[in-house]
Amino acid sequence: MTSTALTEVQGRSVLAARSDGRYVVVQAQASDAPALEAVQRACFPDLSESELATERHFLAHQAQFPAGQLAVLDSQSGQVVASSSDFRMQVDFAHYAHPYLEETGDNLFTTHDPQGDWLYGADIGVHPDVRGQGLATLLYGARHDLVRRLNLRGHVAGAMPKGYGAVCSTHSIEQYVMEVVRNERADPVLSVQLKRGYGVWGIIPDYLEDESCGGYGVFIVWRNRGHHAP
Ligand SMILES: CC(C)(COP(=O)(O)OP(=O)(O)OC[C@H]1O[C@@H](n2cnc3c(N)ncnc32)[C@H](O)[C@@H]1OP(=O)(O)O)[C@@H](O)C(=O)NCCC(=O)NCCS
Repeated sequence: MTSTALTEVQGRSVLAARSDGRYVVVQAQASDAPALEAVQRACFPDLSESELATERHFLAHQAQFPAGQLAVLDSQSGQVVASSSDFRMQVDFAHYAHPYLEETGDNLFTTHDPQGDWLYGADIGVHPDVRGQGLATLLYGARHDLVRRLNLRGHVAGAMPKGYGAVCSTHSIEQYVMEVVRNERADPVLSVQLKRGYGVWGIIPDYLEDESCGGYGVFIVWRNRGHHAP
């Protein structure tokens, strides 16, 4: 999927577009908050209520770091169908295993550091009705464009290995992740991220409350090859 010449949809600047122009990435705005919450609820049915992002959280993200909040619009209907939420931070790769709510300042992004040289991926969700059509790929591309534009070192995230819960009685998390990395099994989230160029750095126990991933996170890293000393 490559960008088209589309520059504006419904008066909003287009940051990236699917090659057919049907779906576009824009910066999220306050009026999107109800739709962002609806997409979130559809995407994370097993996540604890205390860890779900609601309208209040999306508005806080936009106040902290507007450029990091992305929405995918259906250019025909104007509906929000997917989103991603990021902020900037310093990364200590020796101490990366933090619970989601601690890392994100209770999901309000109060941990955003305007001088941080890494982008932290707090969230990505594509509505179930439009999955498998390249929308996550579009969002990852737009996030990498932001990393390059800000000359950051790269993008990190706590991925949710959503296939792990189903096999956790027979597999250790390390064994499971190794099999996904070796492409011996597919995970509905981690496999998507590995395809987008991310590598696995380590496991995060007690990352969040979600049975589908056994409460684990996987710390993943995408490096900006074009990063240069400021
Ligand atoms: C993970 C998620 C964002 C992927 O979104 P998507 O728009 O369907 O992904 P894409 O269509 O861009 O697919 C990207 C690649 O991953 C592959 N892929 C998609 N779903 C997959 C799955 N369930 N298993 C294995 N591979 C998959 C696609 O085939 C594609 O591969 P390609 O680049 O070789 O063509 C989406 O499933 C989702 O919102 N899940 C629920 C929320 C969630 O768990 N978010 C992650 C939190 S860390």
